[in-house]
Amino acid sequence: MVSYKELGLVNTRDMFAKAIKGGYAIPAFNFNNMEQLQAIIKASAETKSPVILQVSKGARNYANQTLLRYMAEGAVEYAKELGWEKPQIVLHLDHGDSFELCKSCVDMGFSSVMIDGSHLPYEENVALTKKVVEYAHQFDVTVEGELGVLAGVEDEVSAEHHTYTDPEEVVDFATRTGCDSLAISIGTSHGAYKFTPEQCTIDSKTGRMVPPPLAFDVLKAVEAKLPGFPIVLHGSSSVPQDEVETINKFGGALKAAIGIPEEWLREAAKSAVCKINIDSDSRLAMTAAIRQTFAEKPAEFDPRKYLGPARDNMEKLYKHKIINVLGSDGKAL
Ligand code: G3H
Ligand code: 13P
Ligand code: ZN
Repeated sequence: MVSYKELGLVNTRDMFAKAIKGGYAIPAFNFNNMEQLQAIIKASAETKSPVILQVSKGARNYANQTLLRYMAEGAVEYAKELGWEKPQIVLHLDHGDSFELCKSCVDMGFSSVMIDGSHLPYEENVALTKKVVEYAHQFDVTVEGELGVLAGVEDEVSAEHHTYTDPEEVVDFATRTGCDSLAISIGTSHGAYKFTPEQCTIDSKTGRMVPPPLAFDVLKAVEAKLPGFPIVLHGSSSVPQDEVETINKFGGALKAAIGIPEEWLREAAKSAVCKINIDSDSRLAMTAAIRQTFAEKPAEFDPRKYLGPARDNMEKLYKHKIINVLGSDGKAL
């Protein structure tokens, strides 16, 4: 058993309380490899933004959970080397699907875990989340629960339609489980294809596709029922069209990929939404830079020559999110 405190990590409690008061949100960026982690830490250190490093089931299968946890420990030291004296870094399990998995993450030094029981019948979700909270809280590890189902693939379960969070359930869920934050469903979804072009309208000024509105009324109702309680938004990539165009220009074949407009996320960040999950945008930024390097420098075969530009492009993206979308810059001085 190792405590995250020995690794220089922090849990989400104070971070979320400050974010709600301050009207900003904490970025939760997924990482699977060294380049993503370096880019996240550099962007966070240079902007002095608190940050949540997320490890998904896919990441654990790809890179190994133990290795990722040691990388996160290294990330704290790297942040200090970059001149961030008091890094505020959370190591978080994204979409945990069992008590055993959450326990193993708590035991190996994660400072926060998500137990995603959103696909279970309500009472089973309550019981599972409560069990994880009871274990995690013994070690001051914070727990995110989820109510409502996001459309698309979530936790390897696929749902065709959203089931928005029922505001009538949130007080009962938060009280009975004791969870520290709650992911809700208001129309966001995972991946780069959140909406079809048929669902969108065209903005006459910019020519951009505008998706159907998110259910901000559900968010407002949840906030009214649970004033000051930390709310989490999954599936919050904006799918930057310049990255999609670069990918397609240099040999990619992405269909019309449409994400959540950044202005909507900026609005959400001012509310009780204090954690915003972004993964797909980083994948797009990485792929765009790699494809461009391959196309423009076909004789290059040193991985550093294409992973380096990919890392730079991700760092730019993370800084943009921190400064222009979430407003978390300068909040971890
Ligand atoms: O929740 C979804 C995240 O983007 C993680 O996806 O399981 O493919 O790593 P993944
Ligand atoms: P995106 O696919 O929109 O980046 O969402 C990521 C996420 O919610 C991770 O849990
Ligand atoms: Zn998610």
